[in-house]
Amino acid sequence: MVKSMKDPLVLCGVIGDGTMVRVVWDSKSSKLLGSLEGKDCFRGTSSSLKVLSPRPVATITDALALQRNKSYFYTVASPLSGVVQIKVKLAGGGGICTRQESIYINEGNTNRDVPLASQSRDPNLESSNIRVDHGVVPSPSDDLPQPVSTSQAPPSLNPSIVEEEQENVSPSANRVASVASPQSVTASQAPPSLNPLSIDEEKQGIELRGNVERAEIESSINDENEVETTSAANKVQFWLNGNKIVVENPSPTLLLIDYLRSPEVGLTGAKKGCGQGGCGACTCILSEYNKETQEPIHRAINSCLRPVCSLDGLVVTTVEGTGGKPKRIPAKIGQSLQHSRAGVRPGVLTPATLKAHEELKQYKNSRGSDNKKSGKTNEDDGGIVRFRQKKGRSLKVNPVARALAENNGSQCGYCSTGFVMNMTGHMQSCPNSTMKDIEDLFDGNICRCTGYRPILTAMKTFASDWGEEEEKNRMKCEVEDDDDPLDPTNFIPTIPFPPEATRSNTPSHLNIQGKSNTTWLTAESLGALSRELKDGNNKNVHLVNGNTSFGMYPEEFTGSIQSTNHTLINIADMATLKHAPKMVNEDGRFEFGAGLTYSNLISYLSKVGSKIDDTNSLGAILYMARRTAGTIVRNAATVGGNTMLVLKHIHEGDPFPSDLFSVLFALNARIIYCSLLDTENTIVETCSDLVERIKKPEDKDLPWRILIKSYEVPIKDDFIMPNKTAMREVNSHSIVNSAIVLPIDKDGHVSEDVKIVFGGIAPYPWCAVECEWNLVGKTLQDALKNFETIATALKQEVTDELKRHAKRMISVPNEGITDEYKANLAIGFLYKALVRAQSNDVSDRLKSAGDTVWGNWPVTNGKQRPMPENSSNKSSEINNDAIRKPYIKISALDQTTGHTRYTHEIQVPKRTLNGAFVQSLHALKSFSLDAGPEFEQKLSHELGFSIYLIDHKDVPAHGKNLQGMGGDQPLFAENVVQYVGQAIALVLADTEHQATHAATFIANNYVKYSEIGGDYKNEWSQPILTVGEARRKNSIYPDFCVHYPFMSHLWKLTRPRSQLDWSYGDDETALIDGVECAIVRSKIKTGRQLHFYMETQAAVAIPLDDNRMKAFPSSQSPAECHQTCVDAIAVESNKVEIEIRQLGGSYGGKTEQSRFIVGPAVVAANKIQRPVRIVMEREADSAMMGQRGGIEGESWIAIDKNGIVHGLRSEIYMDGGSFLDCSFVVTNCIQLRTDNAYFVRNFETQIDVCRTNTQPTTAFRGFGDLQGMLMIETAWDDAITVLNKDADSDSYIDPLEVRMRNLYKRGEVTPFGQTLTYCYMREVLQFAQKVTEYEEKKKDVIEFNRLNRWKKRGIYMLPIKYGSGYNLKMLEQASCMISVYSSDGTIMINQSGVDCGQGLRTKLLQVAAYVLNLPLDYIQIQFPKTSVIPNPTSTGASTGTSFNGEAVRRVCQELRGRILNFGYSLRTEYGEQWCKNNGVDFWNYTNAWRHELQDGQLVWQKLIQHANSERVNLTVASNVKIKGGEEALPVGTFKTPTGQPSLPYYEVLQYDSKPIAYPRNPSAPDKFTGFTYSAACCEVEVDIITGETKILKSSLIYDCGLSINPALDIGQIEGAFMMGVGYVLSEKVVYEDRKDNKNYGSMNTVNTWRYKPPATSTVPINLDVYMFPRSASNISDLPENPNDFLSSKEVGEPPLILSAAVFFAIKDAIRSYRKETSQSELFELNAPATVQEVRRACGNLFSDTTHVAS
Ligand SMILES: Cc1cc2nc3c(=O)[nH]c(=O)nc-3n(C[C@H](O)[C@H](O)[C@H](O)COP(=O)(O)OP(=O)(O)OC[C@H]3O[C@@H](n4cnc5c(N)ncnc54)[C@H](O)[C@@H]3O)c2cc1C
Ligand code: FES
Ligand code: FES
Repeated sequence: MVKSMKDPLVLCGVIGDGTMVRVVWDSKSSKLLGSLEGKDCFRGTSSSLKVLSPRPVATITDALALQRNKSYFYTVASPLSGVVQIKVKLAGGGGICTRQESIYINEGNTNRDVPLASQSRDPNLESSNIRVDHGVVPSPSDDLPQPVSTSQAPPSLNPSIVEEEQENVSPSANRVASVASPQSVTASQAPPSLNPLSIDEEKQGIELRGNVERAEIESSINDENEVETTSAANKVQFWLNGNKIVVENPSPTLLLIDYLRSPEVGLTGAKKGCGQGGCGACTCILSEYNKETQEPIHRAINSCLRPVCSLDGLVVTTVEGTGGKPKRIPAKIGQSLQHSRAGVRPGVLTPATLKAHEELKQYKNSRGSDNKKSGKTNEDDGGIVRFRQKKGRSLKVNPVARALAENNGSQCGYCSTGFVMNMTGHMQSCPNSTMKDIEDLFDGNICRCTGYRPILTAMKTFASDWGEEEEKNRMKCEVEDDDDPLDPTNFIPTIPFPPEATRSNTPSHLNIQGKSNTTWLTAESLGALSRELKDGNNKNVHLVNGNTSFGMYPEEFTGSIQSTNHTLINIADMATLKHAPKMVNEDGRFEFGAGLTYSNLISYLSKVGSKIDDTNSLGAILYMARRTAGTIVRNAATVGGNTMLVLKHIHEGDPFPSDLFSVLFALNARIIYCSLLDTENTIVETCSDLVERIKKPEDKDLPWRILIKSYEVPIKDDFIMPNKTAMREVNSHSIVNSAIVLPIDKDGHVSEDVKIVFGGIAPYPWCAVECEWNLVGKTLQDALKNFETIATALKQEVTDELKRHAKRMISVPNEGITDEYKANLAIGFLYKALVRAQSNDVSDRLKSAGDTVWGNWPVTNGKQRPMPENSSNKSSEINNDAIRKPYIKISALDQTTGHTRYTHEIQVPKRTLNGAFVQSLHALKSFSLDAGPEFEQKLSHELGFSIYLIDHKDVPAHGKNLQGMGGDQPLFAENVVQYVGQAIALVLADTEHQATHAATFIANNYVKYSEIGGDYKNEWSQPILTVGEARRKNSIYPDFCVHYPFMSHLWKLTRPRSQLDWSYGDDETALIDGVECAIVRSKIKTGRQLHFYMETQAAVAIPLDDNRMKAFPSSQSPAECHQTCVDAIAVESNKVEIEIRQLGGSYGGKTEQSRFIVGPAVVAANKIQRPVRIVMEREADSAMMGQRGGIEGESWIAIDKNGIVHGLRSEIYMDGGSFLDCSFVVTNCIQLRTDNAYFVRNFETQIDVCRTNTQPTTAFRGFGDLQGMLMIETAWDDAITVLNKDADSDSYIDPLEVRMRNLYKRGEVTPFGQTLTYCYMREVLQFAQKVTEYEEKKKDVIEFNRLNRWKKRGIYMLPIKYGSGYNLKMLEQASCMISVYSSDGTIMINQSGVDCGQGLRTKLLQVAAYVLNLPLDYIQIQFPKTSVIPNPTSTGASTGTSFNGEAVRRVCQELRGRILNFGYSLRTEYGEQWCKNNGVDFWNYTNAWRHELQDGQLVWQKLIQHANSERVNLTVASNVKIKGGEEALPVGTFKTPTGQPSLPYYEVLQYDSKPIAYPRNPSAPDKFTGFTYSAACCEVEVDIITGETKILKSSLIYDCGLSINPALDIGQIEGAFMMGVGYVLSEKVVYEDRKDNKNYGSMNTVNTWRYKPPATSTVPINLDVYMFPRSASNISDLPENPNDFLSSKEVGEPPLILSAAVFFAIKDAIRSYRKETSQSELFELNAPATVQEVRRACGNLFSDTTHVAS
């Protein structure tokens, strides 16, 4: 019973659709608060509420009847106020709840639960909540175990989880830890709100004067908040998806993601993409109850950074907890009665089938009127029925997940749940977000497939300002039979927040002794902290707040392997640190607690509104807070934690370039801190004083001995400008940041208080003191006028400072940033500040230099234009609409709701061991490792758990360790390692963490390296890291080698009768074919690229009886994996079966390279005869697997005055890495595509592959074409520049016009002899020119550049011709098998294409449905299995749909023919009436056998049953030869065996001396099967001062032919384009090239901290995609290549090449600047055009004073 006047009465419950309703009646204040799903739905006093006739106390039935948009009246009986009637109105539309629900009345704080009814669950429901039987179940395995002494027994690995279902647990039983309940504290003593923003400002507005007062107040706050604890608990209690979980004695370092994904918990909705907070795939929602507002607060967090121990008392929701699993109801079953001998009795249906049909009929009738409206007939039913949900019987699918699926926002789906959860969390607190808010939200989520556009569209449909215009432009996927259309505005996903959690005992006082020496303690107050430490626990103390620093400094959390007494103290619940932000003394000072999260800081400052300007103090804080990390990290990251990262790494480790700390430093903010051992005495110091103190060697350990309590920022009116430049716009740490304060005295001079602070120059915020003094006393105008002098001095000062730290920085990983660039950024930031500070006095042209563009770009938009509606199917065979329609991907909803099981998540058999590789730490060294039983035993003792160690010696006799396309790459290194990251051995252990831990331990301690010997003498003894070095040493792969006698390297490609002598001299002009031409020489270097598939490489290998082996690799290449397994363990091919699941992205990275995961897995499984699973950690994957290889290219191009190119010759060197892998295939592809879209009469390309000690070059989307295109288009670009050098407006020829003049014409022949019979490049380019309004846009760009000195825009349009197919005859084939089930006529298609996210299975389904004239949901497309379809061609080279589709078409055609003939034979034999009576007379219906009969079966089903009875073969298998590609290339030069480069390890094969050319070598390339023609027009804006680029607009015109599924194809176009954008813009792969660094040779960009694929902010502001409307009436009739599959064209790879237009638009912008500043317009721009590269290419900036002042 409620006894206290202060106590509120709470009524809460969950209604049928999972919505949480809560009504709070505060009898004291007579205030009423109602909330719906955590959002207020009404507030007020009793007087403002209408009182109606009395009714009994709210009952369950009342709650059950709740319908949205209706008012309900409850009488709440309050012991104090008597009976009060309240009205509840639920806003919005929504469903009726029909199931019984629980309502709890929480009577104040008496801790008494009164369950009015227990929660009843329908056992048939597919609830995604975890349901675990009562009692103790094994907890997930421990993480990172610490070494124990050999005398110690291996510790128990399985702390227990106890899960109790609420209804069966008595209130007292819920209290698992013996701690004082916070509910027993009276309201006046209640701990302050968990939400710092909600604390009453008045109460918090204590002004502090000096240290003494501060200390007093602090201690008074402390006292207030002190929660006396009686004893400490060793179990963590939290709620997971609504269920209470108790984990006993978990490892202190166990992270939530690993807990969730552990086999014991099995919630795999959250993915582990990076494990360091950099990708967002692991996002979950963490909720806690705000006792102040009496509402739960939800925030999306990275589960990969969150320790399980920190969850005590909190509520965790994974994607599984936010909605149900998509389910088809009613099922379209149609089984006929089956005899006991499995035969089917035609026409006799089972009772269950009849019932199902009845149900379906009713459903259809109910939809009848809708269908009439939409013009559909009931006959049309039978498409994809994914979203049919029976109301009231299944949990609703999370609306966000659903919107994402419906908008084609999920390709491989591995990132999807992260996006869904981020949005779901956000919608709770900000239901009225705008499109801009929503776009900003995803700055911490990475998607590698989609290019983000469809994701952003899906999410923006929930925005408050999503309007009709946006809806009109939204490309809609076909979602058939959707009886429950999604109305985003009316849906807020549910986050289960059990009533019990509102009374949680947070914070429990935990003391958890982990294995070995790690301890977790909770310090909920300062008192508790000092007590813990005085108890002797102060050795190696690591305070934990948000723990986001785990992302950068994981060892500081886990403790190093050697560390002892590692103590983690959770301070996240310490009230002192939660000091809410507030302004004191009206703008005089800004205060906030150190435990304030970035998100809460931002939220507070955003509300300050008018007080904020981006050049005042609060604005600067807000700017830098927003630029820190991504939203999900910011939801957990605290300011105090951030500061400490700087302070702790001043002397050692990787210095931390905090953004916010630079601003706090410049603002002279004071830090209020105390010693950990004396928490009562508070010290106040400015940031700079504290830094200065810690810089002193004697105080360097201070950061480990203090606790930051709060901050105090003096707020002045001085101008301040913050700035930051990073490798990527968002979620990327600073290269350099700055905070520049320019106070002006009354005479208009810069005063002595000037502050110029930089982060990223020194290992702490660094003041450019000399520069400050230089400015003092000057007016801003003077400073600008003399900027050249100031800049020169600053450059010197910065350079000196950088040099001072050079020694310290040598041990820090190289990020590829030069001192020059850092100094330039520092100068640039100062310049920007000076311009901005006097923006009224500088000329208009200079002004934009000072503009803050970051965060202010408009919301992205764009059109997706599929083919015109009237696009007909020229090769139409059947009249149905299964193809050409934008069907939703069949797996989309499973992916977005987290129900797809990837290879990572295959439920493995018991006794499966997990594997992790021991990887090389050095490049090019000899090594030894004592693998063997004794060593295993010794290590098992040392580690505390059992391991196996597998290496090359375990490859059985006759097995092959050397594998890969070149047969030169070992599965396990043997004596020599070539590159850092190469696999040496495989450790097997019970858990993933044990395996990873043991592998690292062995790599660090037991692999002995020595200088390489043998053939590697002299110049070969040192690792080679770059193409330049390789060229100098002639480290070139020989073409004929014992390892790969079969490979072909197309060395030179020369157009017959080419005249090329002009290209070998230094002449600037030449007469070619009688025409005077300018000769232009150009160069480019392009970098490498990581695949960065979100699901890293993985494989499971399971030994079976009879010496068989089954493996599940995450691979695009079943045949290659099969081959590797068979070869590795030396068994017959029919003993190995490969099965492939949905991949979480691949992009070519899971073709050849998957061999090196599945091979070792199979070797290991074969040896120990137990299942083995390998799931690569992100860093291990990046370090080991192949990549896109960079090139260095040089070209000579000859152009005449009319813009006709008469000659082009190029020499290219590609980085092949340590092993050959796909290098020759990639270079062959480059060779065959470098002509691009132009006919050049004299043409030659030559290419060699360099051997470097880096990861091998493997298959990668586009197969080298992007690199080749960048090189060749650079030549064109330079030639056009020379052409127009002195041109006036009359003689100027636009680059697009030059290209138009040189385009291939239909019937012309490529340099390699393929006639372009079906070419329509010109038509595509003309279409592009028109729809992009190229000419007008170009004028706008010129005008913008005229008006802006420091911001330049560039625009570029490129045509792209791309040859399709593998050009290798033996690969141009596909097989398929179709089987029909006799009982219900449903179909199984076994095929060999891998679904990597491109939607292959959906397209194949459409093809089969189209050819068979059946509804889509009668057909199942299987994942590939080599036991069914052996020898499949790899799913690559964009051939998936065309090759496998052709095979599907073939078998379907054959089956169709067979069943047709059978049907007609029935008519002949039994007559028309008999056929009618038996329902097999398909010829009588317009939709033939798709017709549905009275009993609900299709005619097809009847026919099949009869066919089976008559022993008609219901299986068809076929192999198809794909047309095209059969003809050999008539030209091409292959190197002769003599004169081959000699390389250690690569013994050249001695053939006779004739050139080896096709047909001698079966691996030599053939002609392409066809070509795609496309174009892109891109516009960018470049900040000349920093080198930052923004893509303003990209229009992509792609020729898909007649698309089979326009939604999926547009998805491929956008996704490929954005992947290319990453390559040309930000994805810089950096190696450690400083010999004195101990990691010399390692790739430093192995993780999300250093490697930057595109983010949401990289998406062009305007992204338009047009499918070239080949059949549109305004396009002249174009020839169709009969080889095009169903008139469609490939789409997976070619659009990637369109991103080259972004690169050249940047070059165009830079050229505009260079031209204006009289620098040469011919300059080298290398890819990626990173911020540093762009800035470098801009050349001199401040050398000309006339340009810098007004
Ligand atoms: C993916 C990612 C991207 C990021 N990007 C940026 C970026 O662009 N710019 C930027 O500036 N930062 C960035 N960060 C860093 C981020 O701001 C910090 O990790 C975060 O602020 C640390 O806060 P926390 O509460 O998680 O600290 P924790 O991780 O809990 O602790 C960090 C350190 O501070 C100590 N500590 C914590 N609180 C206190 C306290 N009150 N007193 C004394 N010691 C304490 C801990 O012992 C630990 O050493 C990024 C982080 C991630 C994961
Ligand atoms: S896995 Fe957590 S952010 Fe990438
Ligand atoms: S769909 Fe986003 S990573 Fe694949």
